[in-house]
Amino acid sequence: MADATGVSDLISTTLRISNVRDYPGDFLSKVEASLTPQLRELAKERVILVAMEGDAIIGTASLGRDQVHAVFVHPARQGRGIGTRLMEAVESEARARGERELILYASLSAVPFYEANGWRTVREHRDGGARLVVMTKALGEQRARPDNGAGIADAAV
Ligand SMILES: CC(C)(COP(=O)(O)OP(=O)(O)OC[C@H]1O[C@@H](n2cnc3c(N)ncnc32)[C@H](O)[C@@H]1OP(=O)(O)O)[C@@H](O)C(=O)NCCC(=O)NCCS
Repeated sequence: MADATGVSDLISTTLRISNVRDYPGDFLSKVEASLTPQLRELAKERVILVAMEGDAIIGTASLGRDQVHAVFVHPARQGRGIGTRLMEAVESEARARGERELILYASLSAVPFYEANGWRTVREHRDGGARLVVMTKALGEQRARPDNGAGIADAAV
């Protein structure tokens, strides 16, 4: 149960520090409300992965059937390959289930990150006044990448 609090805190912190540059506060509050209070409910239909550094949760990503949700790396830990490792773990889980293609709704600032990880833009999506980018990735062969030290694990929520 501690994991649920850790994942929720990480999402709230990252939304407030990283995403506030691109989105108004009311949209971020809506995203926060859709992800954090019902994490245990979401965990029934999504696999929730976490990146750990010691006892601290420093990253998370979730997989529904064929959709990736809630990819967040703590602002102080961004740019170190943790997001990439989380996406590799998500894609590996989806491949193991036999999924052929994944979809996600990217925040504007995350588009270059997903492009660098092999995702391509399909179209723009508007949620009220907020612009998101619909992206997909076909699941092919997995590339080997060096370990960056942050362990990726299933969250026990
Ligand atoms: C998007 C996010 C998950 C990326 O995680 P990260 O751990 O910082 O990403 P990585 O270190 O694995 O980056 C991998 C590559 O993506 C690219 N990249 C990452 N962030 C980037 C940025 N802001 N602008 C341009 N390229 C970026 C780079 O090519 C990077 O490779 P490099 O380190 O060799 O330059 C993280 O920045 C984040 O949590 N952002 C705020 C929350 C958010 O918007 N999440 C997405 C919701 S859809």
